[in-house]
Amino acid sequence: MSEIALSLKNVTKVFVKDNMQLKAVDNTNLEVEKGELVTFLGPSGCGKTTTLRMVAGFEIPSEGTITFAGKDMTNVPVNQRGIGFVFQNYALFPHMTIYNNVAYGLKARGEKNFTEKVKNALALVGLAGTEDKYPNELSGGEQQRVALARVIVMDPALLLMDEPLSNLDAKLRIHMRTEIRKLQKKLGITCLYVTHDQAEALTVSDRIVVMSRGKVEQVGSPREVYNNPNSAFVADFIGQANIIKCKVIELKEGRITATLPTGNEITARTEQEFKVGDEAILVARPENIIIEDFKEGDIPAQVINSLFVGNHVEYELQLGDTVINANVPHKPDMKIFTDGEKVSLVMDKKTLLYLNH
Ligand SMILES: Nc1ncnc2c1ncn2[C@@H]1O[C@H](COP(=O)(O)OP(=O)(O)OP(=O)(O)O)[C@@H](O)[C@H]1O
Ligand SMILES: [Mg+2]
Repeated sequence: MSEIALSLKNVTKVFVKDNMQLKAVDNTNLEVEKGELVTFLGPSGCGKTTTLRMVAGFEIPSEGTITFAGKDMTNVPVNQRGIGFVFQNYALFPHMTIYNNVAYGLKARGEKNFTEKVKNALALVGLAGTEDKYPNELSGGEQQRVALARVIVMDPALLLMDEPLSNLDAKLRIHMRTEIRKLQKKLGITCLYVTHDQAEALTVSDRIVVMSRGKVEQVGSPREVYNNPNSAFVADFIGQANIIKCKVIELKEGRITATLPTGNEITARTEQEFKVGDEAILVARPENIIIEDFKEGDIPAQVINSLFVGNHVEYELQLGDTVINANVPHKPDMKIFTDGEKVSLVMDKKTLLYLNH
């Protein structure tokens, strides 16, 4: 049986500023299992931080309830929630040693004999032996590890991370996201994670909550939201997607047939409702499209631009009135089509999906 560590029921947060009401979080419902890492992903201002701040207790919801392991926490003060919070600017105390930085919370909590705990926490983040150093003697990535050690040493019931890697350079970000995920799994700690980097969300999460304008658009595993987005917004936000407007001409069980901007017909799966004559959005990932020499009866497209990027060729293509992208895997002996050339578009049918919004 899975245990629910955290639940948000109808949680709404309204901010009032200059007599204007802003719904930063709009009726969010979510259950997080013990040991799960759930990521909030969405554009700037969609309510990710506000959601985390309500879970932490820095903000009180305008409506709804927040429970930890079945216990109502909605109005419980921050320091009684047993939460660890890692922020974007992880600001260590510069005048304290690494040891004292990590020990700080334990001392404040009145604990004694914590030397082993501090050493263990530093070892867990790969920083054994740095106890006597000062923050300015460590790299950015190492400092972020100290920030992590400082939180996990407290053995929090819930770990909240708000864009913890955004101050690091691209390479270190990729390395640290793997490290964070390994550590989170090893400790079995329940974690809420915020990012607006979709690659980070896909790699660290058990489940992703895609948000837009305060609302939850979709919740699912990384593969679910990537393969079965429920809206064009989600399809476009997670990975790259061609969004092609089509017209429905036939309905079948779990599938529809619609006409592309070129007039060609394509049958593909859908989980949504349509009527004949409706507009349907065909989602086609660039990696699921290839191009070939044009043959009569195929879907015609024209090459606008081609970019050789090593393992694949990125094509920009004109499809009727729509511009789409195709990333065709590269082989040394393959033909690379040139600008202006007329080609046949071949889409991997299994991967195509029709959406109604
Ligand atoms: N204390 C506040 N008072 C008034 N408005 C606020 C307050 N905090 C947040 N907001 C507004 O609520 C909305 C959601 O903000 P939030 O910080 O949750 O977004 P976010 O998804 O974390 O964005 P980002 O990716 O930029 O960090 C924004 O429009 C923001 O301006
Ligand atoms: Mg934020």
